[in-house]
Amino acid sequence: MCAIDTATLKIIHYPDPLLRKVCKPVEVFDQALASLAERMLKMMHEANGIGLAGPQVGVLRRIFVCNITGDPQDDLVFINPELTDLEGEAEGEEGCLSIPDVTVNVRRALSCTLTARDLKGQAIEKSGTELAARCWQHECDHLNGRLITDRMSEADKIANRRSLKRLESEYRR
Ligand code: NI
Repeated sequence: MCAIDTATLKIIHYPDPLLRKVCKPVEVFDQALASLAERMLKMMHEANGIGLAGPQVGVLRRIFVCNITGDPQDDLVFINPELTDLEGEAEGEEGCLSIPDVTVNVRRALSCTLTARDLKGQAIEKSGTELAARCWQHECDHLNGRLITDRMSEADKIANRRSLKRLESEYRR
């Protein structure tokens, strides 16, 4: 991991083109990576989010953090994650820290398995259902440049039109 000044990281917003990049795998599991993950967890908690992916803080690497309960003991860090065993289907409302005031009904697999590396580079594997599975799928989308705005129905487009327009004009400023 190249050195990143974690003190200056901030959550970037739609329609920043960095959110559209396909992220590169993490290759070095060093102290800089651990510091990045720690900072991302702090930013996620401060923003009351349940997940945050590298590109959302302008780091185009395959890393995300999540915590679906808010209890610090449930903090999780996944490096180079891969989803497998996607099963079932459920629709649920999702927001995104990079797209404030926008919610989209997204159809996702109901359960899945996530294989990844931890901060030391050790292989990890977890199975999840419902909110955990939804969160992991949302965050893995981020690592491939995909956003919930890509998954809007006509009704979602209408409901979110104003918020998206406002974010677009804020970005141009
Ligand atoms: Ni998001």
